[in-house]
Amino acid sequence: MNRKLKRVRKIKGTIRVPGDKSIAHRAALFSIISKNPIEAINYPNGADCQTSLKAAEALGVNVQKSGRNVTLTPPGNLTTAEGKTINCGNSGTTARLLAGIIAGSNLEVTMTGDKSLSARPMKRIIDPLTQMGAEFFSQNGFLPLRIRGKKLLPFEYKLPVPSAQVKSALLLAGLASQCSVTIHEDSFTRDHTERMIADIGQGIEYRRVNPVPVDDPVDPRKKRMQMPESFKYEVKLSAQAKINGGTVDIPGDLSTASFFMAAAAIGKGTVSIENVGLNPTRTGFIEHLKAIGCQVEITDKKVVSNEPRGTVAVTGAPLKARKISGETTVALIDEIPLAAVMAAFAEGTTIIRDVAELRVKESNRLEAIHHNLKLSGAKSALLNDGLAIEGQPELSGADFRSFDDHRIVMAFSVASLFLAGPSSIDDDSSVAISCPEFYELLGQIT
Ligand code: S3P
Repeated sequence: MNRKLKRVRKIKGTIRVPGDKSIAHRAALFSIISKNPIEAINYPNGADCQTSLKAAEALGVNVQKSGRNVTLTPPGNLTTAEGKTINCGNSGTTARLLAGIIAGSNLEVTMTGDKSLSARPMKRIIDPLTQMGAEFFSQNGFLPLRIRGKKLLPFEYKLPVPSAQVKSALLLAGLASQCSVTIHEDSFTRDHTERMIADIGQGIEYRRVNPVPVDDPVDPRKKRMQMPESFKYEVKLSAQAKINGGTVDIPGDLSTASFFMAAAAIGKGTVSIENVGLNPTRTGFIEHLKAIGCQVEITDKKVVSNEPRGTVAVTGAPLKARKISGETTVALIDEIPLAAVMAAFAEGTTIIRDVAELRVKESNRLEAIHHNLKLSGAKSALLNDGLAIEGQPELSGADFRSFDDHRIVMAFSVASLFLAGPSSIDDDSSVAISCPEFYELLGQIT
């Protein structure tokens, strides 16, 4: 549907957003290999997370919905699904995590997806899972993908791209096949898989590696900091690891909440989001808001289902430009479209680098952001791995393109609230992927 949007005068309100997508996907997919039922509380309605429920159902999980809660009862025996085709829709998380489970099970499954998912790289999971012993059949590493699961071999791997989906696929393969898996990372990708295994299962250890003081080789009176190992993060899954089952209480999705925080930031209003996930591997956008001048207050902090959560209140202010690059980008990778939109309203030039990954998300997000920013008269330059955006005091309304990407639609819907003149989005239907309630929630703060 074409969506018309216009400038608003005030941003203010207190809202709750739907449950965290990443955690919900994991609860659904873990049930396939769980020893006992998993009760997922506050399961989101978005199409992607429903795709993971359908995938679990296709492999024999009994899915009972009661309002926002879902009871997932595992099948017990996974050997019967030979020759099945599972459609992963638009969901990269479903496809990559499910591939790990299938690779480590006695199953042969073909995974398909929509046009966007069929253009996203799967080689990053095919290569390590093949090294573990599974068999993959694809055309150049894209969906459709046929996977023949096997009893896999113990595996040690350093992630070549910072990807929680790849890390999780390997851990799930290890769980399904009861083989040990050790993964090393040079950044801190989201750790929901590790936390959930520790919470409703067993057999996992994970740690950050901190630099230690060593003698300076030039001047022994001095010390300098050095990494004691060749990686920054290690996760070890033992061959005895398993999912026992239990309750997963899902906090609100911080990535969804970020759209409303950005509205507060640009509109110089105040928005509070209650019961939102605050996993430190996901809070890069909150740090960014503080760094560009916003006031952020966090209250009601608690840990539920091994995940921190709380209420976040953001108050906007005149925004300043900032450079975002290196490993800090990992903790706000899904929020870069919003950071770019805010940059167009900030004073100075914001440089965003080391985010080439955005070219292989639901759309080529770098191109999509650049295209739409230019439509509103913003000064944006496309770099090979990012964007440079010079803020301006006034930008004009425009007819934005959706690129069939939910985060692009939501980011430019937020932008439209602060542009001179009316705006539109050619097709807003992709918001259903992660937050069907998006426009209703936006209405509650405008
Ligand atoms: C996700 C990991 C990230 C993120 C995606 C969800 C997950 O993708 O962008 O929205 O739930 O593991 P990558 O693993 O490709 O970085």
